[in-house]
Amino acid sequence: MKIAHVNGPLPGPKSKQLLDRWHRYEADVVGFQAPVVWDSAKGCVVTDVDGNTFLDWTCGVLVTNVGHCHPHLVAETQKAAARLLNNYECANVERIAAAERLVKALPKHLDRCFFLSTGSEATEAASRLMKRKSGKYEILCFGGGFHGRTCASASMGGLPSPKKGYGPPVPGMIRVPYPNPYRDPNGWCEGGPDFKKYFDFLEYTVAINSAGNLAGVIVEPYEGAAGFIFPPKGWLKKLEQWAHGRGLLLTVDEVQASYGRTGHMWAIEHENIQADILTIGKAIGCGIPVSAVAARAEVFACLSKGEMSSTLGGNPVSSAAVCAVLDIYEKENLVANSAKMGVYMKKRLAEMAKKCKHLGDVRGMGLIMGMEFVKDKKTKEPAPELIKPLIVDCANHGLLIGSVGMYGNVIRVAPPLTITQAEVDESLDIMEGALKRLGSQKFSV
Ligand SMILES: Cc1ncc(COP(=O)(O)O)c(C=O)c1O
Repeated sequence: MKIAHVNGPLPGPKSKQLLDRWHRYEADVVGFQAPVVWDSAKGCVVTDVDGNTFLDWTCGVLVTNVGHCHPHLVAETQKAAARLLNNYECANVERIAAAERLVKALPKHLDRCFFLSTGSEATEAASRLMKRKSGKYEILCFGGGFHGRTCASASMGGLPSPKKGYGPPVPGMIRVPYPNPYRDPNGWCEGGPDFKKYFDFLEYTVAINSAGNLAGVIVEPYEGAAGFIFPPKGWLKKLEQWAHGRGLLLTVDEVQASYGRTGHMWAIEHENIQADILTIGKAIGCGIPVSAVAARAEVFACLSKGEMSSTLGGNPVSSAAVCAVLDIYEKENLVANSAKMGVYMKKRLAEMAKKCKHLGDVRGMGLIMGMEFVKDKKTKEPAPELIKPLIVDCANHGLLIGSVGMYGNVIRVAPPLTITQAEVDESLDIMEGALKRLGSQKFSV
């Protein structure tokens, strides 16, 4: 029996009415989404207000790794909410438990954390830590990087949209390209494990731009918003060696890559990267707003008391979520499921790419994959115009997908880590059907 059911073209009548009402009151400035109003969701299945059901490859935006509304997460956060909602930065039982649980789950070399509310707040905090610890102000960052939409986080990013029209960024950002194996006209991906050409260029870029004040490096283990760009094997390790060889602090931004998304609990575990600072968000609360910055105690020691705080950071409800999510990870083998299902899904998507003239690349690891669409596989010219119709077509057949990418031409494949074999197969069948329609005249572009 099929899991997803859509009765008639979207939006359904209730969704249509609600969407019209929404746009009369809230500014319509979010990205393009399938025209449905979510009513409820459980595991990997979303139900809209018209009673349509969909399989979910979005997870919000890589958030609900334990599945939507996991009963243990719901129960634990409700319990905490009934007792105490907020006490700012004062101690509470849940916060203390969450800190202990998170540190015990972190890679061994990181022994302290601090709770905040959003990923942007965590990367802002990381930039402050790098600057305070080193006494310097320059940060090496990457083209295509995304670290959030607040001032320093957007300045460290390397995508146009978070910065467009906002005047000069925070001074001291030195930006270098991120190696992209699918688009590599300069050969930055060649020559591993030394990547000599790349690191010579990096060295040169630093030399001509730096005022001798480099504090640290911030990098995503794969670039998410840029279109799920996975650097060649060994490159991140080499970057770690380069940074540490110069006494620089290395921040790895795992706001989206952590919590098993890549098939390891932490993305840095793939190459045993000794990050000095780790930023964590999204799946840490699986839908409850919480983020964290993690580091060694001696890194946090650069801050005096009172120098880091957040109105909602460490509140009892978010902290209960941190613990509940870790309980679920311990019980349900989610990281192993991510690795296993990821291999299966990538293989089938790669087979689809062979048959679809516009699907230029399928890449990823674990349950995070990007499907990059191009006008022509030889020229690789991006085809962003295919994305909206594909999102609508998939939704009309019962699959919710989202898009990203420097050129807006990449589909995000990021289901909950709880996804079952039946859900994987059915969702892949829907995608396969959509790609076939994309190649035929029936698909309106
Ligand atoms: C790698 C990375 N860093 C930071 C952020 C910002 O997180 P938030 O939207 O919670 O502020 C994101 C969000 O997508 C992200 O993917």
